[in-house]
Amino acid sequence: DKPIDGKTETSIEAARKVKIGIYFATWWALNVVFNIYNKKVLNAFPFPWLTSTLSLAAGSLIMLVSWALRVVEAPKTDMEFWKTLLPVAVAHTIGHVAATVSMSKVAVSFTHIIKSGEPAFSVLVSRFILGETFPMPVYLSLLPIIGGCGLAALTELNFNMIGFMGAMISNLAFVFRNIFSKRGMKGKSVSGMNYYACLSILSLLILTPFAIAVEGPQMWALGWKEAISQIGPNFVWWVVAQSVFYHLYNQVSYMSLDEISPLTFSIGNTMKRISVIVSSIIIFRTPVQPVNALGAAIAVFGTFLYSQVIYNCLV
Ligand code: 3PG
Repeated sequence: DKPIDGKTETSIEAARKVKIGIYFATWWALNVVFNIYNKKVLNAFPFPWLTSTLSLAAGSLIMLVSWALRVVEAPKTDMEFWKTLLPVAVAHTIGHVAATVSMSKVAVSFTHIIKSGEPAFSVLVSRFILGETFPMPVYLSLLPIIGGCGLAALTELNFNMIGFMGAMISNLAFVFRNIFSKRGMKGKSVSGMNYYACLSILSLLILTPFAIAVEGPQMWALGWKEAISQIGPNFVWWVVAQSVFYHLYNQVSYMSLDEISPLTFSIGNTMKRISVIVSSIIIFRTPVQPVNALGAAIAVFGTFLYSQVIYNCLV
């Protein structure tokens, strides 16, 4: 084998960056579409436990069919794989339902402003649960994130405690999900796409009984009738769109997790929220007070600052 020279190495690195850039752009665009349809559905049909279940069901179905038709090669898994996946699936289920419950109670933008605090949760979990320490500037960079989220929450016109707590619980659950899943994917032959497929299937099995217990078919049937009479038959397509786009954006994000660290993933995820916050405010004409927008801007700026600090500390 020829040794790789500096020039070749630079172009391999450039190609990798372009690939990650394409993943990120696709992930963010799919996520915006999911958030819009999810909220449209929740406005007419306020059953977040069912819509969360349908999102997982759509993903599971798409992947089972893809494996059966050999569009995608099915992963070779053993009992050990599913055992390692279980805590990830529990965290994924909790984080998903909590975020959806949050969005059923408050504006999409508010949920995502609070969810932009995820890096702070990531550092705090790493510090207090995993015992990892970070240099002082990292902790200092969390202040604008926490302060900005706090200011945005305090000045939110339509504040709702369940909406706020749902987003906070989702942050915590997803930090665990990302830590566990990166560990589970390490050294395994399962690709990001198949890993997320298995995660959807397991999460669907976990969530279904809870969704039935919390909401249940009777409430769903009544709500469905009302939504159809209010929106018309097109409502079905809104539900299909929110479910399918949920799967697609997550699948792409897991494909990018093959290439990047959980930390970079978490930063990319926070940057994604800028596009969701801005587009949902425009589409749903969400009223925003200047001080509220300032809080959101500080929180997002804090994430940017945090990403710079963490790169400088780790490199
Ligand atoms: C969900 O329903 O899982 C959330 O809306 C997703 O949140 P995320 O933007 O962190 O993926």
